[in-house]
Amino acid sequence: MQILLKGTIVADKIIQRLKDFSPKRTLGIVRVGSYPGSSSYLKGIKKTASKAEVSLELLELEKNAPEEEIKNSVREMKESGKVDGILLMEPLPTCAPIQELIEIVGKDLDVEGIHPYNLGKTLLGASEIIISTPKAVLELMDFYKIKPEGKNTVILGRSNVVGKPLANLLLRKSQFGNATVTVCHSRTKDLKKITKKADILIVSIGKPQFVTEEFIKEGAIVIDVGINEKEGKITGDVDFESVKDKSYAITPVPGGVGSITTAALLSNLYQL
Ligand SMILES: NC(=O)c1ccc[n+]([C@@H]2O[C@H](COP(=O)([O-])OP(=O)(O)OC[C@H]3O[C@@H](n4cnc5c(N)ncnc54)[C@H](OP(=O)(O)O)[C@@H]3O)[C@@H](O)[C@H]2O)c1
Repeated sequence: MQILLKGTIVADKIIQRLKDFSPKRTLGIVRVGSYPGSSSYLKGIKKTASKAEVSLELLELEKNAPEEEIKNSVREMKESGKVDGILLMEPLPTCAPIQELIEIVGKDLDVEGIHPYNLGKTLLGASEIIISTPKAVLELMDFYKIKPEGKNTVILGRSNVVGKPLANLLLRKSQFGNATVTVCHSRTKDLKKITKKADILIVSIGKPQFVTEEFIKEGAIVIDVGINEKEGKITGDVDFESVKDKSYAITPVPGGVGSITTAALLSNLYQL
């Protein structure tokens, strides 16, 4: 490995940029119930928001809050005029699925970039608001001058929040686009045969240390989006120790893409 793609420096650069903007912005957060995963995400948002001088308006509802109460609370926050964007923290109860709530939030306050309008714009290559994790990957590539143009870029995972939007972004006819993209998933056959052709391999599957050196082409750039807990430790989808010597550049986990995501989310507030 020649380059360790640290995300923390990238996040600091974004935060610095946000601090220079005025007027200052306020992020509305809606949280229903408290779950360990969302608690640590919220902690991260609070820390980054404080550094970036972004205010937070937090609305917390009981785990068993009725559907109408949740929907009305989102409506009230939207209509209050106090917030510049609304984040819906997952998991949400089944009675109020994220697709329904994001329609209430509307495209203009959709800080996460998950409203069908914003996702459609991403598909058209004309996105204004980009989902925070794919945006974090692009920020990382920008910072480390990784140019996807003409590169065989393989994405492992086809989730709506990472794999699919990222594939579309990397296909754009623009800077940080023009890649030749292959998307793999759990039904892909001969996975290693495909990943071994990747100049850039981006992994988002939620399987701790799944990708080992047999998946990698010598000199590849490996971007690990995965955040998993294994034996009490945070680990990526890539087996860092196995892959590091064969790759040209690789992200650590923790301290890689994950540390940029919150800053990327807050930068959407200004984009909105
Ligand atoms: N860094 C961040 O800010 C951030 C943000 C979001 C997620 N994450 C992390 O990223 C990971 C993935 O999350 P996600 O939401 O993108 O995905 P997800 O919704 O958990 O879906 C997993 C994807 O991986 C595919 N997959 C699963 N096992 C596979 C295998 N053995 N071979 C090939 N493909 C396989 C699945 O295929 P099928 O579609 O066929 O089921 C699916 O497309 C998790 O660790 C999550 O915590 C990190």
